[in-house]
Amino acid sequence: MENMVNVYLFGKRYQVPAGLTIMTAMEYAGYELVRGCGCRNGFCGACATIYRIKGESALHGCLACQTEVQEGMYVATLPFFPLEKRVYDIEQIKPTEQIMMQLYPEIYSCIGCNACTKACTQELNVMQYIAYAQRGEYEKCAEESFDCVMCGVCSSRCPAGISHPQVAMLARRLNGKYIAPECGHLSDRVKEIDEGAFNELIESLMQKPVEEMKELYNNRDIEQ
Ligand code: FES
Repeated sequence: MENMVNVYLFGKRYQVPAGLTIMTAMEYAGYELVRGCGCRNGFCGACATIYRIKGESALHGCLACQTEVQEGMYVATLPFFPLEKRVYDIEQIKPTEQIMMQLYPEIYSCIGCNACTKACTQELNVMQYIAYAQRGEYEKCAEESFDCVMCGVCSSRCPAGISHPQVAMLARRLNGKYIAPECGHLSDRVKEIDEGAFNELIESLMQKPVEEMKELYNNRDIEQ
């Protein structure tokens, strides 16, 4: 059986065609994915996965929909990771250094091991954006963490118990509300939407077949 690889899904061995992603290999093996599967395109972060190659000590984090199977891969999915999400009212807080100390004090216990960065499925410099958050540099934290899909793999490896994606979310919200310049045309567009200017258009789009929608999306005008 050429082009087949042995993978271990939840501890059980399966032979699957090489070239499949972990996600499609799970389906090939007969699993019906109810949790841990969303966009299938690397955007939603629902398919966080941990794997180790037989005989190697390194533990890897990845997105199951974006990563190809390899010979001897031991896979465990992480459909949910318990991140600590603090409650705050963005209208009531300000982008001060104190707010991070108050809401996410554990970030100051970072020991600099860099396990978060090594585990990141998006190859973000996670430890660096936490350092920015510690210093109240929310604009930099927002920029550095922009591509986070909140899969939680970084937090699963953190000895200090930091919920990195939630820290970054707070920084991006503070940046968006208080630091970044207001985007005039966005406010205008939101107002138009509120006033129902696009209701008819949205209704007609919802009736279109998926293929036509894809075509429209791929050929859309991209604003400069
Ligand atoms: S299913 Fe959305 S990132 Fe993999």
